Amino acid sequence: MTLKIYVPRDAAAVACGADEVAEAFAAHATKRKLDIEIVRNGSRGLLWLEPMIEVATAEGRIAYGPVTVDDVPSLLDAAVGNGKHALRHGVAEEISWLKNQTRLTFSRCGVIDPRSLDDYRAHDGYKGLERAVRLGSDGILADVKTSGLRGRGGAGFPTAIKWTTVAQTKDDQKYIVCNADEGDSGTFADRMIMEGDPFLVIEGMTIAGVAVGATRGYIYIRSEYPHAVEALKAAISAARKGGYLGKGICKSKFDFDMEVRVGAGAYVCGEETSLLESLEGKRGLVRAKPPLPAHKGLFGKPTVINNVLSFAAIPFILDNGAQKYADFGMGRSRGTMPIQLAGNIKHGGLYEVAFGVTLGELVDQIGGGTASGRPVRAVQVGGPLGAYFPKELFDTPFDYEAFAKRDGLIGHGGIVVFDDTVDMAKQARFAMEFCAIESCGKCTPCRIGSTRGVETIDKIKAGVQGAKNLTLLEDLCNTMKFGSLCALGGFTPYPVLSAMKHFPEDFGAAPPRLQAAE
Ligand SMILES: Cc1cc2nc3c(=O)[nH]c(=O)nc-3n(C[C@H](O)[C@H](O)[C@H](O)COP(=O)(O)O)c2cc1C
Ligand code: SF4
Repeated sequence: MTLKIYVPRDAAAVACGADEVAEAFAAHATKRKLDIEIVRNGSRGLLWLEPMIEVATAEGRIAYGPVTVDDVPSLLDAAVGNGKHALRHGVAEEISWLKNQTRLTFSRCGVIDPRSLDDYRAHDGYKGLERAVRLGSDGILADVKTSGLRGRGGAGFPTAIKWTTVAQTKDDQKYIVCNADEGDSGTFADRMIMEGDPFLVIEGMTIAGVAVGATRGYIYIRSEYPHAVEALKAAISAARKGGYLGKGICKSKFDFDMEVRVGAGAYVCGEETSLLESLEGKRGLVRAKPPLPAHKGLFGKPTVINNVLSFAAIPFILDNGAQKYADFGMGRSRGTMPIQLAGNIKHGGLYEVAFGVTLGELVDQIGGGTASGRPVRAVQVGGPLGAYFPKELFDTPFDYEAFAKRDGLIGHGGIVVFDDTVDMAKQARFAMEFCAIESCGKCTPCRIGSTRGVETIDKIKAGVQGAKNLTLLEDLCNTMKFGSLCALGGFTPYPVLSAMKHFPEDFGAAPPRLQAAE
């Protein structure tokens, strides 16, 4: 009987040696004349165990990790023997870290072969689209509205409103654009799903096309993601061959096709209008709004632009029922969020869970605290424009409104953990410096303000007129917050002000105006 071994092809696993492990399995099996099949799956998201391999058995898929090339001979012994091994974690789905998740979007990631359309279909793939073409525009829009889905790219804008606006805008050509720029620090969910379940993103975009009357789609992906580019290109071509892209998709009256475009590499190219400029072949400069992309987007045509995870949530909603999705979550944050645990954390990785879990549960219980073993001092949630939260705010539930109430944002769901050795004034300086480097330069508060911000923090750190410069820094932050054209300049103050508010001791003095309790 053929022995089936799963070795992830996910970039994180590959970075930890998965390709070499796969080669070693093939070589040792040949030497031993063992009949094996190696499936290169996506990652399950337990990054501290990568490369985590799985061996198919009658009991289920048994996980072992982290595996090195040297472990391969003994793992083969275990696979053909009683399965016992020091690296054994038991049936993958039963590992508590995986079992306790609510995987609606990532249900197939790490399970299927991302290059196989048949495997995707065997795991309920394309059922959402098949229903969508039967429902047509109004039915899809109603489902997306019922689901309560909000954009997972950062702003949390209701997806149904965006799609309905494009559907109602009359034009001879409309576009679907997938924002796969994923520039936020500590985030990798887009990459993981594109590598591990690329058909899902394609299916979500195709459903969007049917909903709004668009026939063409683009995936704008950062150049640092070559594995995802390869996975998407392979999946697009397989979907086309299978009749899921092109003319008359799923034997319906709808046409839809798409292509991948690789970005030039700038954080601001993730901002939707800047992305559209870049997609049109121009410099990534932010456009003034209005007009909204929904009215005049790519090449001046009505355009739906959504994050990878927003599109990836759609097939579940169409296939399993919008209400089933909406039943998860809290308040106006419905469904699940694929949370990415990163930085100085013991158990980093992808953890999909319903909204409402607290920050403390995520960092201390699920993440297991810091990798260094030192106390957690701060976490930055939502990428480089997100606020720093101290332990005192660990009771904040993962919910758009709860974070906003505490001057934070959940953004794309990235959590970066720092231990007690972190210098928060240095982190504040980094936020300003990042903005100065990445600013598109269109508006003054961001272009000039960020550089002045770096200089002012340097003065504070050097002990030059501390109190006066702290007040100046706060004023500067407010000017950037309220005067910037887009969220790069407008949100850079959040990490700066939160660091000043929660960690005043790192700035040499407690800034008086920020001392007021929440
Ligand atoms: C500076 C900046 C960078 C951004 N980067 C990304 C990104 O990498 N990926 C993303 O999906 N959205 C990013 N956004 C948000 C997009 O502008 C936009 O809100 C999003 O693509 C809309 O999709 P959604 O409604 O599905 O979230 C960024 C915004 C700003 C201001
Ligand atoms: S805030 Fe910064 S990135 Fe945004 S438009 Fe202004 S200069 Fe450009």
